[in-house]
Amino acid sequence: MIYLDSAATTLEKPGAVPRASAWAMTHLASPGRGGHAPGMGAAKLMYQMREQAARLFGVSDPERVVLTCNATHGLNIAIHSLVRPGGTVVISGYEHNAVTRPLYAIPGVKVKEAAGPLFDSDGVYAAFEREVTADVDAVVCNHVSNVFGFIQPVERIAQLCRARGVPLIVDASQSAGTLSVDLEGWGASFVAMPGHKGLYGPQGTGLLLCGGDARPLLYGGTGSLSARQDMPDFLPDRLEAGTHNVCGAAGLLAGMKFVSRTGAVRIHRHEQALARRMMDRLERVPGVSVFRGGENQSGLCSMTIGGMDCEEMGEALARRGIAVRAGLHCAPLAHQTAGTQDTGTVRLSFSAFNRQDQVDRAAAVIRELAGTAKQ
Ligand code: ALA
Repeated sequence: MIYLDSAATTLEKPGAVPRASAWAMTHLASPGRGGHAPGMGAAKLMYQMREQAARLFGVSDPERVVLTCNATHGLNIAIHSLVRPGGTVVISGYEHNAVTRPLYAIPGVKVKEAAGPLFDSDGVYAAFEREVTADVDAVVCNHVSNVFGFIQPVERIAQLCRARGVPLIVDASQSAGTLSVDLEGWGASFVAMPGHKGLYGPQGTGLLLCGGDARPLLYGGTGSLSARQDMPDFLPDRLEAGTHNVCGAAGLLAGMKFVSRTGAVRIHRHEQALARRMMDRLERVPGVSVFRGGENQSGLCSMTIGGMDCEEMGEALARRGIAVRAGLHCAPLAHQTAGTQDTGTVRLSFSAFNRQDQVDRAAAVIRELAGTAKQ
């Protein structure tokens, strides 16, 4: 099988990742719950994981790195910490349901879209300039669109939010591990990311980097201040009730070490080169439309084929051993903004482990399938 769905989750992991998770399962207990060796070992592992993330993502205090179940979990905490019922939020035109659904669930929230044309960074920035006013509760923006790989001008948006005194939440789901993510440099209130995509950790892991005060979503035991009934006011305990996913954290630490040893920039260049090779090939196929940016596109390729339903295409590719994602990718807003809401797209996304020959093989299969489409 050729796996080209790393924007959903990376399947091939560095060997150290499953080894670390399996080792943790039988050697580490619950951090902060016991002075015995397996408990202390777990506490040490959790701290090392936070330190590694803090170094990678511009966080000076490792305690401000919170382990979550996934990026959605982190985004929910961030949104519920900042957005009041009846409040106003500005979001980009490329947000995922992980952002829009939590906002929709807060009564009376007014959502303003700062939507610019696809791959038009200046247009997106101009839209934020128009919409962000000092009275909004928060700005929420993804760093990279999961549908199109559009790298949004997050640095400039962060600067704008700082200048206007508006808290910023960044969804780094598609950029952590490949692009520079810098909580403190951006002055962001929160940055949420999955552990299982570009960081090569196990599914069921994510990180929330906290620049500001956070409200818990989950209440319960933390191993600290146990005589009190309110949640501790310090991180990470405030946001980490219940037994930790220590096995996941161990794998995530190994994944982050792989990223830092290999170099995020190198991984980004590799994935971008594979995506460009794929687009070069697909652009020559009659009936295929490729959504192509420039330097502001990460290593993924979204496309449609005239006369063929995207989901049928995804299934046909799966039958031929090519794993992709097809449809709306949980991001209907991004499709509305780009004008693909009626068709969706077929998305091919890459990781550090993909190779050129896999691109060439997948492109050849798509060419063959496109030849069978009704034009
Ligand atoms: N949001 C993930 C994706 O784009 C799961 O596939």
